[in-house]
Amino acid sequence: MPEHAPTYLHLNENPRPPSKDVVNAVLGVLSGLNRYPKVPNRLHGRLAEYLGQGLAVENISVGHGGVDVLHQLAVAFLHPGDEAIVPRPNFPVYVNNVANRGATLVQVELNDYRLDMQALLDAVTPATRMMYLTSPHNPCGSLTTQDELDWLMDHLPDHVLLVFDEVYWHFASDPAQARVWKHVHADRNVVVLHSFSKAFGMAGLRLGYAVSSPRIKQKFSPPVSEFRVNLMTEAAGLAALEDTEGVRESIRLMQEGCTVLYNALSGMDGVIRVLPSQASFVAFRPDCSGKWLESQLAERNILVRELSGFQMPGWVRISVGNPGETEQCLSEVADILSNRP
Ligand SMILES: Cc1ncc(COP(=O)(O)O)c(C=O)c1O
Repeated sequence: MPEHAPTYLHLNENPRPPSKDVVNAVLGVLSGLNRYPKVPNRLHGRLAEYLGQGLAVENISVGHGGVDVLHQLAVAFLHPGDEAIVPRPNFPVYVNNVANRGATLVQVELNDYRLDMQALLDAVTPATRMMYLTSPHNPCGSLTTQDELDWLMDHLPDHVLLVFDEVYWHFASDPAQARVWKHVHADRNVVVLHSFSKAFGMAGLRLGYAVSSPRIKQKFSPPVSEFRVNLMTEAAGLAALEDTEGVRESIRLMQEGCTVLYNALSGMDGVIRVLPSQASFVAFRPDCSGKWLESQLAERNILVRELSGFQMPGWVRISVGNPGETEQCLSEVADILSNRP
């Protein structure tokens, strides 16, 4: 194996590091770590302000990344005997959480790699407690539209909590993108998940948050859990929310990178299907083993993700990297596929 650091295109990270202001903000609080964070800390209010939409501190709950918020939700709402609906393919953490809670997993196939609202609703039973939706979808990159979401919310019975995972929302350019704010304000059973790992480029910091009505928030995030945000995270999060230019640049980089990946893979010998993406990655189906392609790329020091773990075996997902990394990866994929068994 080569000795220099691999090119990481397997975890949907942002290749741009956080700004100097974010780094300095963290350094600035280090000498005050003898103090507890204030509760609710300034991050909650600032997040509400950042999102606008008439949201307030009472609507925001935080966690150590989106994964931690997903865990909090599962602990609060899922119990043995409950059913949880998870589309297939999916982000694997949902399936793990359902299993860890001893709840029953109910899976609904995507329709041409998009969430199928009618099929999801048809899967609801009196035992259903949660439904997990992702938009933009990981790993397919597809978007749920406002009309689709509104239709689902109109039909979803009150005993089901919808977890609407939008950690890639910044990157979507389609104006039909579904947003849930009116359903939050109507105190519907919905929780939106956001993360600082993607557009803000802070995956290593572990900061995610949920937006819901105060009634739902109180069920899964009691006031004491607001200590979850430590002073460094609070400082970094506050500084990142000011970095409008940095986020805009990340969005531009990801959108351009998705177009480059989609166009190059679409015309490539050995590729059967490529999915257009509203996120920060592109999934495609090679006409050889996806695992073989993944391992061949790893030998060339480039990490991508074969999607068996996402219940999409044979497919491969490439995250957008810096332009040079994306180009390099594409040229290695073309070279490997031209020699496929
Ligand atoms: C769909 C989806 N949800 C949630 C997360 C969790 O993000 P984090 O824990 O880094 O905030 C990810 C991370 O890749 C994701 O793809």
